[in-house]
Amino acid sequence: MPLYHKLGKIPPKRHTQFRKEDGSLYAEQLFGTIGFDGMYSNLYHEHRPTQVIDIRDQYSVAPKIAKANNLQSYRLRGFQVPAEDDYLDSRKVVLTNSDCNIILSAPKKSLRDYFYKNTDADELIFIHKGSGKLRTFMGNLDFKYGDYLLVPRGMIYQVDFDTEDNRLFIVESYSPIYTPKRYRNWFGQLLEHSPFCERDIRKPQELETFNEQGEFLMKVKKQDEIIEMVYATHPFDVVGYDGYNYPYAFSIHDFEPITGRIHQPPPVHQTFETDTFVVCSFVPRLYDYHPDSIPAPYNHSNIDSDEVLYYVDGDFMSRNDIDAGHISLHPAGIPHGPHPGATERSIGQVKTDELAVMVDTFKPLKVTEEALKIADDTYFQSWLD
Ligand SMILES: [Fe+2]
Repeated sequence: MPLYHKLGKIPPKRHTQFRKEDGSLYAEQLFGTIGFDGMYSNLYHEHRPTQVIDIRDQYSVAPKIAKANNLQSYRLRGFQVPAEDDYLDSRKVVLTNSDCNIILSAPKKSLRDYFYKNTDADELIFIHKGSGKLRTFMGNLDFKYGDYLLVPRGMIYQVDFDTEDNRLFIVESYSPIYTPKRYRNWFGQLLEHSPFCERDIRKPQELETFNEQGEFLMKVKKQDEIIEMVYATHPFDVVGYDGYNYPYAFSIHDFEPITGRIHQPPPVHQTFETDTFVVCSFVPRLYDYHPDSIPAPYNHSNIDSDEVLYYVDGDFMSRNDIDAGHISLHPAGIPHGPHPGATERSIGQVKTDELAVMVDTFKPLKVTEEALKIADDTYFQSWLD
């Protein structure tokens, strides 16, 4: 996140002696990205964060591909993904390519028995149902319906859920997830025409420090495998840090829509960018106000990107038979557009209550076996009169 943040105790000068009351040194860690060229933070631990006792199981969690080369539009009924107790077991990759995994997850239990770290990917976790607390070694974030949680790669975390009724839409990205460049000035500050600003970004404010030694299980995700490692010190033993690399939250309800006299294209809804896909937020807004405007989108061809829409809430004007929790996949290479009747239906309407998250990937997505379990196989015919 291009915003400086400081939490807990840190010494006045980096890379200098920072001592505890007993005279011993805190252990400094540079937590950086893109070699030494990306955003980073400097952390101070009670103990050296390198103390591995044991390496136990290593197993694949690679998604099983059902269709590697897909030109079929799909509708996935996301809420049909069964709820599971364990947080990692509950995460089902439904669409994937070499840049990202798109995941549906319905975890019932809090993640407290072990610690989790994704070493390869930033995780963007959208909270569709549920509330709780994301606990990380760089501080905690309360979350609720509508929040995006941005968890940078390498972040050690656990999750508390308030109830067992949780629905998450998650994107794992192998390239860093940033706010859109065109909404930032040369210094990184969000510009006046950005649909959100720094005040909308929630940074960790609560840092819990556990000065404990023992055996602490960490499940580390790397290269589509989970590797179980046992550490000798509690992973949440940071007493303070500063820098630009930390988890944060942003609510989709704080996204201020950009509207116009005629239909505005998807980039006005853009919320996050990476080198390999974009994320857009479709939020309740006034429709176009030209006297002859057509609020429904025109037919359009995704020649360069697969388009994934995750429907959250409201009435989805351009689609027939779409409910909350559904995903539509419109693959690159063929046009799609409003369903029969939707264009006429939209004329004269003044506002929409729709809430949806869109992920447009620049490389084609593969459809997984988990996706086909919840797929409507006839959706591609739904544009016929
Ligand atoms: Fe589209």
